[in-house]
Amino acid sequence: MAPTPTNPVEATLAYAEEFHDEDEVLQAARRRGIEVGAVPILPGGGAALCFMATAISARSVVEIGTGCGVSGLWLLRGMRLDGTLTSVDVEPEHQRMARQAFAEAGFSGSKIRLIGGRALDVLPRLADGGYDLVFCDAAKQEYGDYLAEAVRLLRPGGIVAFDNALWHNRVADPSQRDPETVAIRELGKLIKGDERLRALMMPLGDGLLAAIKIAN
Ligand SMILES: C[S@@+](CC[C@H](N)C(=O)[O-])C[C@H]1O[C@@H](n2cnc3c(N)ncnc32)[C@H](O)[C@@H]1O
Repeated sequence: MAPTPTNPVEATLAYAEEFHDEDEVLQAARRRGIEVGAVPILPGGGAALCFMATAISARSVVEIGTGCGVSGLWLLRGMRLDGTLTSVDVEPEHQRMARQAFAEAGFSGSKIRLIGGRALDVLPRLADGGYDLVFCDAAKQEYGDYLAEAVRLLRPGGIVAFDNALWHNRVADPSQRDPETVAIRELGKLIKGDERLRALMMPLGDGLLAAIKIAN
């Protein structure tokens, strides 16, 4: 159990995070993800994904970084019943555990297309403008490349979202110059400077940066 925060800002953030409950299926997927080092999205970020998928009636969703299925479960629970989740991961063992989580939650295999491979090899094979939502949570140093692919994949009105947009409180600290932090900061600049996108930074979990594609 996490220690009770004493600082009021930390207490407020903890309250916001714990506002969203996870059922036993999500908790089990989260445990497996932590065990194998596929760090799952936190509940606040997961709830935001579910909210966005619901808001736009998402039918076709791409996920980059399946892990053990936590974000996939949140997405599937917000998507239309006839929707399909296409999820890419380089680790077959992670995808095996994700498939287990989806089955435990009652999602049929026909709703889920798991593709094994490196994201930047797989994404170019997916159709232009064919997707409602793209969620990115794999290699942080590739986030700029995922953005370019996501903008190509999304229909107008579609949403791209990135987990770890605040990367363990490092992104806001200019003295932090490790490659992941720098790449995530660059991603923020790319999104803010792109006139095709309308952005929203959400300080949920480890940070969720989302943008709607408003023009081609
Ligand atoms: C942070 S975990 C994903 C967690 C998952 N989104 C969740 O919430 O449960 C990152 C995943 O990305 C995968 N990964 C890392 N680099 C990758 C790459 N270049 N292409 C595809 N998958 C990659 C890892 O194997 C890992 O399963």
